[in-house]
This record gives sequence, C-alpha cells and structure tokens, in this order.
Amino acid sequence: MPHDVNLIATIAIGFVLASIFGYLADRLRLPALVGYLIAGVFAGPFTPGNLADPVMAGQLAEIGVILLMFGVGLHFSASDLLAVRGIAIFGAVGQIVLATLMGMALTHFWGWDFGQGLVFGLCISVASTVVLLKALEERNLVQNTMGRVAVGWLIVEDLAMVLALVLLPAFAQTLGGTAGGEYAAADQGPVWLVLLLTLAKVAGFVLIAALVGPRVVPGILIRVAKTGSRELFTLSVLALAMGIAFGSAAAFGVSFALGAFFAGVIMGESQLSHRAAANSLPLQDAFSVLFFVSIGMLFDPTVIIEKPLEVLAVVALIVIGKPIAALLIVLLLRFPLKLGLIVSASLAQIGEFSFILAGLGAAYGLMTNEGQSLILAAAIVSITINPLAFIAAERIGKWAGRRFPDWTENFGKAKERALAAELRRIRSETEKREHEQARKITEFVETFPLFKAVNAEDQEELLLLFAPKAASPGERVVRVGEKGDAMYFLVSGTVVVDVNGHGVQLKGGSFFGEMALLTGAPRTADVTAVDYCNFLVLSQRDFRQFTSRHPAVREAVQAMAEERLAMNRAAATVVDHHPDETADNETPAANR
Ligand code: CMP
Repeated sequence: MPHDVNLIATIAIGFVLASIFGYLADRLRLPALVGYLIAGVFAGPFTPGNLADPVMAGQLAEIGVILLMFGVGLHFSASDLLAVRGIAIFGAVGQIVLATLMGMALTHFWGWDFGQGLVFGLCISVASTVVLLKALEERNLVQNTMGRVAVGWLIVEDLAMVLALVLLPAFAQTLGGTAGGEYAAADQGPVWLVLLLTLAKVAGFVLIAALVGPRVVPGILIRVAKTGSRELFTLSVLALAMGIAFGSAAAFGVSFALGAFFAGVIMGESQLSHRAAANSLPLQDAFSVLFFVSIGMLFDPTVIIEKPLEVLAVVALIVIGKPIAALLIVLLLRFPLKLGLIVSASLAQIGEFSFILAGLGAAYGLMTNEGQSLILAAAIVSITINPLAFIAAERIGKWAGRRFPDWTENFGKAKERALAAELRRIRSETEKREHEQARKITEFVETFPLFKAVNAEDQEELLLLFAPKAASPGERVVRVGEKGDAMYFLVSGTVVVDVNGHGVQLKGGSFFGEMALLTGAPRTADVTAVDYCNFLVLSQRDFRQFTSRHPAVREAVQAMAEERLAMNRAAATVVDHHPDETADNETPAANR
C-alpha cells in the first residue's frame, strides 16, 4: 500500500471491520465494543491481517476521546462538578492509592523493582474514559446522581494522571529508571519546582477555562449561528472542541481529554449547546469506535498463551481488587451501597491512560515489554467483561437488599439525598433556561405567524438576529425619505404610519419598514409611536440573508408590501378627490 494513503486506509479498514464485527457481536448478544476490539486485533500487526497503521489509529482514537469528553462536558455544568467534588476527590485519590498499592504488591511478588511496580500499579489504577462513558450511556446513567459521581471521579483521575505523566520523568532516576529516557527531559530542575510548575499550569488552565471561556465561547457560537450556515456552525463547534483540547494540551500540559471536557462545559453554558451536541454526535460515535479498534491493534494475542496466570492476576486486580477498593471508599464516605456498586463497576477496567503511562514508563526504563503486554491484555479482557461487572453489581445490590434490608435501605441515604437534591436543583435551572428559550420562540411565532413556516432550528436562529428596541409616545421610529437599514417587528404598543397625510395604525404583531429593504428606495412614510412600543429590529443584512434562505418569508413580506402600496395608491387617489377626508383608522390588511 503506498505510504501516502495510510490515513485513508486506516480509517476505511477501521470503519469497515468495526461495523462488520460490531454487527456480529451484536448478533451474538455481546456488547458491540467487543466486536470493535476484535476488528482491531484483525487489522493490527500481530495477526496475519496487518492492514492498518497502529500509530495512525492511535491518533484517530484520540480524536474519539476528545469528542467524547467534549460531549460529556456539554451535559455537565461547572456546578455539577462542584456538587460532586467531595466524593469524587476523596474517592478517586483514595482508589488510585489503593489500586496502585495492590499492583505494587503483585509485582513485588513477581520480583519486579519498586519503580517498575509503582508505574505498573498506577497504570492499573485508572479507568478508561471512553469505556466508562459508553457503559454509563448504555445504562442511561450519565444524567443521574450515580453517573455524575462516576464522571466527577473520572475527571479527578484524569487530573491525577496528568500529574503522574508530568512527574514521572522527574522521578525516573530516583525510581531506578533512566533519567533521560527517550524523551531526554533530563534537565527539568528540582522535583519541587516541576511539581509547582505543573500545579500552576493546571490551575492556570482551570482559571482561564472558568473566567475567559464563558465570556468568549458562547458569543462566538451566537455569531456563527447568526450566519445561518449549518455547516459553519458544526465546523465552529468542532473547531472549538478540538482547538481548545489541543491548545490546552500544548500550552498547559493537560490531557486532550481534559481540555475537551472543559471546552464542553464552557459551551454547555450557551443557549445553543443542544445544537452543538447534536451536530458533534455522529463524529463522536464514529471516532470513539476507532478508539476500540486502535486498542485491539496494539494487542499481541500470544501473551495470553505465554503468560495466562499473570494476565489472570492483573485482570483479577482490575475487576475485583479495584472495585472493592472503590466500594469501600464510597461506604467510608457514607454514601449508599448502590452508588458504590455502580461506581465500582464502571471503574472495573483500564484503557487509554494506562497505555500512555506504560509507554512513558517504558521510555524511562520503568516498564518492561512484558509489563506493557500484560497491561494491554488486561485492558482488552477487562473492557470486554465490563458488562459483567455491571451485572454483578446489580446482583450484589439485590442480594444485600434481601440479606440486610434495613442497612441497604438506610445507609448513606441522607448524603445521597442531599447530593441528588443539589444536582436536581442544578438540572432544573438548566431546564428552566431551556424552557424559557422555547417559550420565547413559541411566543414569537404566535405574535408573528409569518414565521410559522420556518423550521424550529431556524426560528431559534432568527431570534438571535433581532435586536430589541423601545420607543416612547410621539417618538419617530422611521422617517420618510431616509435610507432604510432595518425592518421593525412590533411586539407591543401602537404606531401610526403617515400615509399621504392620513394615519394607518399598526398594532403588536405587525411589521413595517420592509419596503425600503425590498426595493432599496428611501422610506415611503413616517412611522411614529403612539404609546410605549417594543420592537424587534432586523438589520438589512440579516433580512437579506434570512429571506434568501426562506423564500416563503420573503414572498409573504413582499405580498404585504405590495398590498400596502396598492392601498397607498388608492388612498392617494381618494385624497386627491376628497382632500379633507382623513382615514384615521386601522387597516385590517396591514395589521396582520
Ligand atoms: P418603508 O417604506 O421602509 O418605511 C415606511 C413604512 O411604512 C413602509 O416601509 C411600510 O412598512 C409602512 N407602510 C407604508 N404604507 C403602509 C400602509 N398603507 N399600511 C401599513 N404600513 C404601511
């Protein structure tokens, strides 16, 4: 295969094999991701297939992680994160410490060095973002208390891994590895300085994300939405997600996933977040499939035959040891058993971070080839059997419910209820905001039925185009002979249009100022507020853009303008014949 089509080949083979094996897995009543993993093994260099490029696949998978975390961020507010901080921080840190110790104990038993054991322990202590999110999504848990806790826990784990990745080079020599490693980051300065710098960078990132992001990002989205181009909107959403993820990784040293998560959280504050979510979903799905394919590709199946006991021991640590540690911590923090079981089940696997850390460890002489293969094998097995962890969690929950009904009923309930109430309050605020937006749109369309024909998404965009304006009684809103630069939609109040000396009243629900925009000629009449009026003003540019995409609206406006013109001509003739007769009444046709 020529080298320059590597990317296309990897994507094509990844998609084709993943869809075939995903479908087969589904037919066999296995989770689809097992199919994706097998597709990867097929496409990878360790099986005769050897079709796609594992390095390229790894990068494509990273895109999947970015988009997925971005999607989670969109549905996760900063307040959510704060609400679960207690359990998430203690839980994640405690569980990382316990799991690392267990890993170290196992490797000590195998006779590994302290440093190698530590890196290995850290590798198995963190769960995979992608697997966890997919598992929660499948069970419809992302939005409830348990899901929120699990995601918060994951974010803390993610942060801890960022620290681990940065600190590993600094500690490499102390741990018995090679200080320079492949990355030759030897001269990083004293450890405390590295630690301080890293913490400062992460804090800087969070600060910028919290202060600058919400001021800039929603504004950008609104501006782009106003153009009315769907393609530009989707592009901007992706540009922001990928741009922030990549930029924050480059500037602050945080992981892509973390950067993307915060990009999502920031964008989630925007009224357009649901559109952003819908537009990025298909890409998110496609690339997260490649994530599993790429893991499969790295896998050398011979390790299972050569070292079955070791693989089994590592898997046992991940699917039994780690969840038990997590469960104990949750109970220690006085949260209920059920929450602990779900969180534990979702953490009973390892994935991307483990590979990254293992790779870095290898570069610094702190991870053997054998260790890396074991981690991969354990990852594949633990990801594959993760659904069983959820089944086990459910069974244990039921069993405990029968055996210790009082305890399961009451233990930790107060804390969980408080947390759930807090999360509900946050949720209801978001919902209120969304309802408010929906109500505004409905009200708007009811006032101006002209826009009924426009689809819901474009109605929302239309609302963004309007600038509100008010006028007091007697104020001249439009002046005859002036150049027309906007069209007015009268929401409330009454205006009078001075047509050849007699007034035509317009009330809420009508519009004016359309003629100058349609013809490019000067204003044909004075329009004056009779009482307090509220308008929505549409600029000439936006009027043109919007009506060019919605010809029906343009036709309706045009028809109204023609009707008015005809009426004015008729009135002019009447006035010519009866100069002292004034028609100071409403014109039904013009008041629609
Ligand atoms: P335009 O010419 O841009 O500015 C003055 C506006 O008055 C004009 O657009 C119409 O919107 C409005 N107008 C003119 N004639 C009538 C009419 N007979 N009835 C209602 N509105 C009118």
